[in-house]
Amino acid sequence: MLRIAIQNKGRLGEESVGLLSRVGIEIDTAKRKYLSKAINFPIEILNVRDDDIPGLVAENSAQLGIVGLNEVEEKGAKVNIVRNLGFGACRLSLAIPKREEYTGPEYFRGKRIATSYPRILRRYFEGLGIDIIPVVISGSVEITPSAGMADAIFDIVSSGGTLISNGLKEVETVMESQAVLVANPSLSESDRELLDEIEFRIESDRISRGMKYLLMNIPTESLEKAIEILPAMRSPTVLPLATPGWHSLHSVVESSQLWEKVRQLKAIGAEGILVLSVDKIIL
Ligand code: PRP
Ligand code: ZN
Repeated sequence: MLRIAIQNKGRLGEESVGLLSRVGIEIDTAKRKYLSKAINFPIEILNVRDDDIPGLVAENSAQLGIVGLNEVEEKGAKVNIVRNLGFGACRLSLAIPKREEYTGPEYFRGKRIATSYPRILRRYFEGLGIDIIPVVISGSVEITPSAGMADAIFDIVSSGGTLISNGLKEVETVMESQAVLVANPSLSESDRELLDEIEFRIESDRISRGMKYLLMNIPTESLEKAIEILPAMRSPTVLPLATPGWHSLHSVVESSQLWEKVRQLKAIGAEGILVLSVDKIIL
């Protein structure tokens, strides 16, 4: 049975469950257990700590995983990164007390830097030829400078709120991260096929999320202009209305362009414009 490891808590865990559900892999979230079977897809969901996911996938305890790229890099696990998932964006950054003057990476020479990401931290400073003292801690990294346990921190920054509330400022971004789908490098033929199906659905979900379905009535003499305004996947659908001189036009537009297109369509006489969400687009 194909198994996918996801984070058992936090925002990434919720987004992972949301994505799986949008691609037709429903989990009974009311009783989310350590291991549960999907309702309508041949897959098991393993709910674990995010740090454990790269290793579990590398050892083939789970064939797939959804985890932050930062965890994959930190663990150095032998997994394939199948694709970015477009959520859980964050960065791994160095931060120092805000009253300190920052002079560039040399600032950190000989300094104690608290982190839960020692491998990425060491690699960064080795690359620069700067010796630092890592202080490895599994949580609450942000409080270590004020507690006198470290001079600086190397941690995940998302909104930046945690840094501000701890009197710290971000001075170097070392790595950008987001949630990724990972796979064991030696999947069986049948697991490979299921992964292809999951990837195909994820891609459809990604495309559809940025799109709106638009339908409207348009005076027949404005039809050509309307078709220019709305270049659809092939071309818009046009149907004659029972009322002479009018047509119904259906098309798909990018959400970011929606209001601009609506303005242009109104200007050429479009009426009764309906905007609908697109659930899936299968190209
Ligand atoms: C990370 C990080 C900070 C916080 C930063 O912790 O360690 O505490 O997020 O986010 P912000 O910039 O939006 O304030 P996370 O929530 O991942 O929990 P963890 O420390 O238990 O892994
Ligand atoms: Zn944290």
